Amino acid sequence: MGHYIGLDLGGTNIKGGLLDEAGTTVAQRSIPTESHGGPGHVMDRLNTLARQLADDATLEWDRVDGIGVGTPGPLGDGDVVLSAPNLPGWKNVPLGAGMTERTKRPVAIVNDADAAAFGEFWTGAGAGESIQHMILLTLGTGIGGGVIINGKLFSGAHRAGAELGHVIVEPQGRPCGCGQVGCIERYASASAVANEAKRRLGAGEASSLTSIDEVSCRAVFEAAEAGDAMALSVVEEACDKLGTTCVNLVRIFDPQMIVFGGGMAHAGDALLSRVRATFDRRTWHVREERVTLTLATLFNDAGFIGAAGMARAELGA
Ligand code: BGC
Repeated sequence: MGHYIGLDLGGTNIKGGLLDEAGTTVAQRSIPTESHGGPGHVMDRLNTLARQLADDATLEWDRVDGIGVGTPGPLGDGDVVLSAPNLPGWKNVPLGAGMTERTKRPVAIVNDADAAAFGEFWTGAGAGESIQHMILLTLGTGIGGGVIINGKLFSGAHRAGAELGHVIVEPQGRPCGCGQVGCIERYASASAVANEAKRRLGAGEASSLTSIDEVSCRAVFEAAEAGDAMALSVVEEACDKLGTTCVNLVRIFDPQMIVFGGGMAHAGDALLSRVRATFDRRTWHVREERVTLTLATLFNDAGFIGAAGMARAELGA
């Protein structure tokens, strides 16, 4: 039976799992990314984690059939990460070559959100024959996008699609790590929600959120639920922009399902009900809308499960 390792490279942690052919996770663990050490150090960390996973599963290293790495950022020729807006120093990083050299195993490189979309499609929210057209938005440090069309992952003509976090929603808006302004990830990612609440607190707005340093996306959602007006307006702005973005995605792709993953999706119905409200208001009413807006089921595991699945699809016998 084949064994594949999936690694999900995030700004804070690298999550990994060793999966068998059928998609069952045999071992999993997570380590800090230490992104301040730069790309070479992060690749060492990826290699360390992969080898720990094989040890955990008592699998000899040369019996690992492939390693899939999900990375933020659009990819260039030769598995180069062109730019990862949320990882310091990540410009034109030869991740494929660096990982092949370190691991000496076959490596598949994939965008992190594409990996998560494939994971949710394979064994999560979209699993089963009936879903063949699905979009995943990961709401974390940035916003990642993955699109499944006709049961296959879509990555565009140049492996730079679908970068749905960089859909521009405010042409004169907030500066983004990608070099543009007004991208949806600056308004509706988990970091954007926390940052906007911090900005408004810093500007002296009244709120039950008092200590700026402790403001997280989760704290903002909790304060909003408890009736804090400032937190509520931050949450509503984010959900409104997400709802509008979903309408745009439905106009372009006509999917059966849009799935929300990433840290902010833990807000559950507080997120979903508001996104749906804007979606219902702004979508066409020519017939009953047939797309389902829903939450991820694999959450933090989607990225490594999908990365292993992509390795199996690309490198498997
Ligand atoms: C990057 C994407 C990535 C997403 C989530 C965005 O800023 O451009 O490639 O999928 O963050 O990490």
